[in-house]
This record gives sequence, C-alpha cells and structure tokens, in this order.
Amino acid sequence: MPELQIKLYYKNVTAEIIGNEHGITDARLKTLAKKTSLLILQLNKERKAGKTPYRDLPYNEKTVQKIKELTAELKDRCENLVVLGIGGSALGNIALQTALNPYMHNLDDSQRPGPRLFVFDNIDPPQLASFLDWVGDKLDKTIFNVISKSGQTSETAAQFLIIHKLLLDRLGCEGLRNRVIATTDQKEGTLRKIADDLKLRCLEVPDGVGGRFSVLSDVGLFSAAMCGIDIDSLLEGARDMDKRVIAEDFYQNPAAINAAINYYFCSTGKRISVMMPYNYALKDLVDWYRQLWAESLGKANNLKGSKVNLGPTPVKALGTTDQHSQVQLYREGPNDKLFTFLQVNNFDKDLKIGPAPDCAPELGFLASKDLSLLLNNEKKATEYALLQSKRPCLTVIFPQVNAYTVGQFIYLYEVTTSFAGALFDINPYDQPAVELGKQASFALMGKTSRCELTNMTYEKFAQQIGSLTKVDGDFLL
Ligand code: PA5
Repeated sequence: MPELQIKLYYKNVTAEIIGNEHGITDARLKTLAKKTSLLILQLNKERKAGKTPYRDLPYNEKTVQKIKELTAELKDRCENLVVLGIGGSALGNIALQTALNPYMHNLDDSQRPGPRLFVFDNIDPPQLASFLDWVGDKLDKTIFNVISKSGQTSETAAQFLIIHKLLLDRLGCEGLRNRVIATTDQKEGTLRKIADDLKLRCLEVPDGVGGRFSVLSDVGLFSAAMCGIDIDSLLEGARDMDKRVIAEDFYQNPAAINAAINYYFCSTGKRISVMMPYNYALKDLVDWYRQLWAESLGKANNLKGSKVNLGPTPVKALGTTDQHSQVQLYREGPNDKLFTFLQVNNFDKDLKIGPAPDCAPELGFLASKDLSLLLNNEKKATEYALLQSKRPCLTVIFPQVNAYTVGQFIYLYEVTTSFAGALFDINPYDQPAVELGKQASFALMGKTSRCELTNMTYEKFAQQIGSLTKVDGDFLL
C-alpha cells in the first residue's frame, strides 16, 4: 500500500537549511552513508544468523492464529482487561491502545470494540487501590494478563501477588485460573514456575527478544487483539517496513538514514533527541520509543570493552501542548537537540471551528477552518521557528494513523535502534545498568541468600544501601 507508507523527511537537518555549523553537509552525509552501508550488510547477516529474532516477529503466523483463538474464546466474558507489567512488558501495550483506539475507549461503550483496558506499569498504592475498589464487583467479567519475562520484576510480582490473593479469596482456584493469562518465558523464570504450578493459561515472550523489542509478539498482540485492534494490519505494516529497511542502498533505507542522522548529531554534541508528535494518539508511542532508545543506546562500554558512556537522551514533547511549555528552551536554550516531529496528514475524525462571535472579529481567521489544519500548521510554525534558530528537525509523516502505519513505525524504530547500536559500536540488546537497582530493591525488601551481582548477602547489601541513602539530619533543612 504505497499511499499508506510512512515517510522520513530529513532535508531540515541539512547544512543547506540550517547552515554548516549545525547542519549535515553533503560531504558529511556521504561519509555517514559509507560507514552505515557496511552496517546494513552486517545487520542483514546477523538477522540471517538468528541473532536478532525480533526481526522475524511480524512473520509468525502461528502467534497470530493462537492470539485470535484465545481472543475469540475470552471476548464474551471480558469487559475489563487488566495488564500487569512494566517497561518492555507494558509500554508497547499502552502505545498501541492510545494510538489505535478512541480517546474515550474506556468510558463510552459505543466507542469500544473490545473490553476496557487498564495497564498497570507502576506500583502506586492509591492508584491500584482505587482501581481495585472499582473492579471488585466486576471480577467475573475481568481478565488479568500478567506479563513478565523473568517473573522476578518486583513491581509486576507485587501486583500479581495482590491480584492472586484477591481472586483466590473471592473466586477460588478455578476462578483464578479462568481469569489470569500469564505471558512469560517458554521454559524458565519465576512466572513460568507459578503459571505451571497454578495451571494458568500462558502466552510467550519469545526467546532472545528483549522486552523493549517484544511489542509485536504475544506481549503486545494479545491486549491489542482483545481491544479490537487489527493485528493483521499491524504486522503487515511491520513486514512492509522490513522490505524497506533491508535495502542495501543507504539512501533508500529509512532506518539506516534515521540512525545515521541521530548518530551524527549525538556524536557532535546534540545529545538530546526530542520526539514531538502532533497527534495525541501518538503520544504513548513516544514513551515506547524513549525506553527503546534509552535502554538500548545508553551504554558504559563499547563492543571492544572501552569505556564510552554514551547515548542520546530521548525526550518526549507533545504538539501543540508543549509549544507552550518547552519551545522557548528549544529555540533559545543550548543548541544540543535533534527534533523528530510526528506529523499526520489525514485524521480519521476532524472538526470545523465555529464562527467568531461579533464581539471578537479578531478570531475570524480561525472560523470555519478544520481543526486538523490548525494542528498541522502549528507543527509547520514550530518547525519554521526552530529552523530559524538553526535547530535540526526530522519529520516522520503518517498518511493516516492506523494499525498498518503504526506497525511500520514500530518496526522502523526497532531497526533504527539496531543501526544506531552498530554505529555507536555498543550492544543495544542488553541493559546491565538496570540490574543493580532491581537487586537493591530486593535487598531492601528483605530478600535473603546471596546477591550474585554484588557478591554479598542481600542482608549485607541492604546495610550498604541503608548507610548511603539514610537521611542525614545535618544536611536536612
Ligand atoms: O526492555 C526490557 O528488557 C525491560 O524493560 C523489561 O521489559 C522490564 O524490566 C520488565 O522485565 P520483565 O518482563 O522480566 O518483568
């Protein structure tokens, strides 16, 4: 569907538009093309060797079949779907829901093609308590999907243990079994053990696929399909983008160009990467991107083991809201940012602005215009203002927002991340720095035995954390 292809527009990062000091000259682009072209071949080879299994998720017909069967079986008895997960086990689910279902999905039955969706990716007690008060008399029509590859993530484990007790107390073992779907590793991990023991229905986090690359697997597809999202189109979009991001010609490969531009600016001092959608529906895709970018590219060491401490800092902004909050800084603050706008050409719903009242003829310029025209003109206006201040701007253009274009976007950014990892010469698939904090929270919550990461007992580890984090009165004002 060529007319529904998303496009990357990159002229506004070039020296021709923002000058030699800040823009990419033809010569620099040629150098980047040479470097990145080699990596296109390398990535295509690594994929063939099975090193990047996320690349093949859009082709897994068995997954789609299984998800569709499960959805058909559960839909009639599910008015509320509750996802428990965090990081890569939640952000994709939230992003798909916000992008592809109406804003009032949870509140208006007539706008809802499936159950209400609640994704808990935090452990805020008042938030969860308020939800449980609401859902308490609706458990019969509620399904819980607990998602955790390891099963050891404290946040998801704690949420699950709360729900586990609630369901057992109210509905007994059989009730629990009928209402919980566990998405986890196929063979190992704590959640796998629990699921086997309780004989829960299971979905899989595929082998070798990290959380932030898993949205096109069972992890993201189940809640999407349950809530009426067209997962066939989503995966078709990803497959069609795959055809474009394997292109060996750098200038025809949007992931390679996107990564090269991001790499260039980060390496030359513009280390902040602002993504700014001009469409509310796309705002949570930016949260998904932030995790993908931050966990994949923020690394201490390169592949040769040298200390590099690099990585662009992804920042979320929303057009037009953040024009009135951030753009002053973006234009006049340090020129240390690359901007990526997400622009939508055709909205599936639009509104006409009403006539100006007689007392305010100065608003006449807005009267009878489409609201989408104002939104897209505000994007142009902001981009123009940034370009006047010599700030580099990329735009990803969505002809429309639908499952097909969102599937393309997800795949584009996943592969862009792989290219960026290769350009920075780091491993984009691990997240070693997250582990210390995870283990520290285990220690503080009273875990016993030995912590392999710190090579001390959890008790000793807790003391060490305590002495460093206790509030010292001398410094408390
Ligand atoms: O991208 C990742 O790998 C992480 O964000 C994980 O998804 C997150 O830490 C949750 O881990 P788990 O699925 O094991 O609970």
